[in-house]
Amino acid sequence: MRARFGSPEWLAHEAAGLGEAAQCGFVLVAGGLGERLGYSRIKVELPTETASNTCYLKYYVETLLALEKKSGAKSPLPLAIMVSGDTEAMTVALLKEHGDFGAAPGQITLVKQEKVAALQDNDAAIAPDGPYGVQAKPHGHGDVHMLLHSSGLVKRWADAGRKWVYFFQDTNGLGFRPLLATLGVSKSLGLHCNFLTVPRFPGQAVGGIAKLTHTDGREMTLNVEYNQLDPLLRATVNKNGDVAGDDGVHSPYPGNINQFVLDCGEYAATLARTSGVMGEFVNPKYADAAKKKFKKPARLECMMQDYPKVLPESEKVGFTSVESWISFSPCKNATADAVGKTPPACALSAEADQYFHCAEMLRWAGCDVPKKGPKETWDKISSDVLSPSVVLKPSFCSSLAELKAKIPKPAFVSLSKTSTLILGGDVEVRSLKLDGGLVVNAQPGAKVVVDHAVVKNGGFTRGACPADAPEAVKIRGFDTTFGDDVATFDVEDGTWLITSDADGNVGASKMGPVRVDSDGCHIGCTLA
Ligand code: UTP
Repeated sequence: MRARFGSPEWLAHEAAGLGEAAQCGFVLVAGGLGERLGYSRIKVELPTETASNTCYLKYYVETLLALEKKSGAKSPLPLAIMVSGDTEAMTVALLKEHGDFGAAPGQITLVKQEKVAALQDNDAAIAPDGPYGVQAKPHGHGDVHMLLHSSGLVKRWADAGRKWVYFFQDTNGLGFRPLLATLGVSKSLGLHCNFLTVPRFPGQAVGGIAKLTHTDGREMTLNVEYNQLDPLLRATVNKNGDVAGDDGVHSPYPGNINQFVLDCGEYAATLARTSGVMGEFVNPKYADAAKKKFKKPARLECMMQDYPKVLPESEKVGFTSVESWISFSPCKNATADAVGKTPPACALSAEADQYFHCAEMLRWAGCDVPKKGPKETWDKISSDVLSPSVVLKPSFCSSLAELKAKIPKPAFVSLSKTSTLILGGDVEVRSLKLDGGLVVNAQPGAKVVVDHAVVKNGGFTRGACPADAPEAVKIRGFDTTFGDDVATFDVEDGTWLITSDADGNVGASKMGPVRVDSDGCHIGCTLA
């Protein structure tokens, strides 16, 4: 199904999905080495963006906590994290240091994948490590199904009445944005497996979702990896291989972003039948033209998106296709390697795409937000959407409908090209003219109304990274500085009004219950 953002269907799916979210379990696969990114530590500790400096894992947990509250879930929404020997210790330490980012005791469960013996030649001889050891390598994210089976986790979720399981990966800050609509689609079509997909460019290094038909008539909808798609198409439906479809731009096969929703009960039954074992493959790189010598030992791998391969034909597998700006901008490539790649999928582009996403949401809601900021180039990667830098935290809004409700008069909300706006919690923006930086965070139990606020200050600035910057900063090429005069409000309880006076001073004052007069002004507001 193609889900057009903002359409009546989209809003209906989001509304249905919110109810379904109360019965969802979540699975983060975070055992990967991240060799392409080249970061020496775990990817989930990296900031999703540097305006709010929220790390990926915190962002994911915050999203679950927000959904839990908004969906009216009767119990904490569980999160399983698959780690590996390479990521386990640092993931445990990160969670411990931050008190599980506010998750309830037992809400987060770690499952650990093991490495497998590496193979050194076409006869599958095991690669030695010194005279007595065996070289071992990661086995791929497909291990997640086996671990969710052997840990009994999915069975417990199903027994407790959970209806859905959502899989997502480590560094996609947009991963949750289309979740509600995707859940709504799963429900309305009764899908056992629903892949979230984005339009794919020919040759792009993401798999394509395709329906394969066997000569005996059997059919299967599944992901075909990008290195196999071209030869498969040449051998079957198109002698030109992996080329654009009717629109002349995109592949006819939607791109798999390794985020999907499974029906929890059907998934549990499938795990009981298969023990969660996925088919393995090996993809050696050869040192010679005769393909006899491996460049280095190869690994047996399995992929989580191969799940439909273990399903009988009767099971319903589908996909929900949304645009990339809503759903996919991972941080996978080192900046130097990202130069010239489309999309670059590096730390800078992932950050810029999140600002763009939130700014676009504001535009959809009807606010006056420039589409582009000044072009910035850091370490040879350029972007004109690093500003305006907008961060809409999950506690502020989880859907377009919720955003619209929080900004009842969007015509009175405008941002300049270089502004930074961060909103978290129960914040209602009634009228705001921002040229600079504004941070508003309403803690649980507090409400903030921004009204008649004209905010002008030096805001946030970006500059080149100092040579001694931490690795996490260096990998994006710039350093963000929070200006001293940024208007910042973090309120803990009660109802607050943020407004400005005739001299341009911005302040917050505690107010009684919010009441609005016939002009849409809050009673008690002194500015006309
Ligand atoms: P990636 O394709 O990003 O692979 O994995 P990677 O191993 O992390 O990075 P490279 O290829 O070395 O650069 C997609 C998702 O699957 C997880 C990753 O953590 C990421 O969330 N993954 C990958 C695992 O959990 N286990 C694995 O063995 C491999």
